[in-house]
Amino acid sequence: MTGPGEAGTRVLTGDELSSVVDRLGRAISRDHPDGLVLVGILKGSVCLVADLARRLEVPCAVDFLCLTPYGAGGQRVRLSKDLDEDVSGRAVVLAVDIVDRGLTVTYVHRLLTERGARSVDVCTLLDRRAKRLLPVELRYVGKIIGDEYVVGYGLDLDERFRNLPDLRVIEPREMRHASPASVQGLFER
Ligand code: IMP
Ligand code: MG
Repeated sequence: MTGPGEAGTRVLTGDELSSVVDRLGRAISRDHPDGLVLVGILKGSVCLVADLARRLEVPCAVDFLCLTPYGAGGQRVRLSKDLDEDVSGRAVVLAVDIVDRGLTVTYVHRLLTERGARSVDVCTLLDRRAKRLLPVELRYVGKIIGDEYVVGYGLDLDERFRNLPDLRVIEPREMRHASPASVQGLFER
């Protein structure tokens, strides 16, 4: 693996991810003794939801929805897969991989509130708060990160690298000059 700032630098190792998710799971359990609906946004939150659900010590339903970006620069999102659960009157914890501009979480938070959820608390693994366009209240935060683009543990670059067991940085120059196929070579194990 290369040194800090270079391609492939780890943001969180598998062990660090595990203790971050432990901490998030304990906090969510403590704050929701009567249980909750854990809602993940596909596909980036899939690893977080799977691990977080197993840390919760309170009654919990698990559900997913999927958003697809559209419009210039992906500035808008639409619902391409809806929840199965009725969230009306229930406490919801929305689990997301990363809050960047804040568009995705704002959209889903509004949707769940309109559907009558009793509460909607956001749990994000990563918080890139310097890039925020819309203000978002984050109740549970795994780690604050900077500008770097990260992949692994569910996060992708053009559908690649979701399966990496840890979180790693891809440098902007790698993203500019390398096709996803050649970037894959950076992470061969
Ligand atoms: P937002 O709507 O700008 O907050 O975007 C959040 C979504 O963008 C996340 O759920 C991710 O799917 C994606 N995203 C933003 N930054 C990254 C990154 O560094 N790596 C992988 N996906 C990212
Ligand atoms: Mg993506």
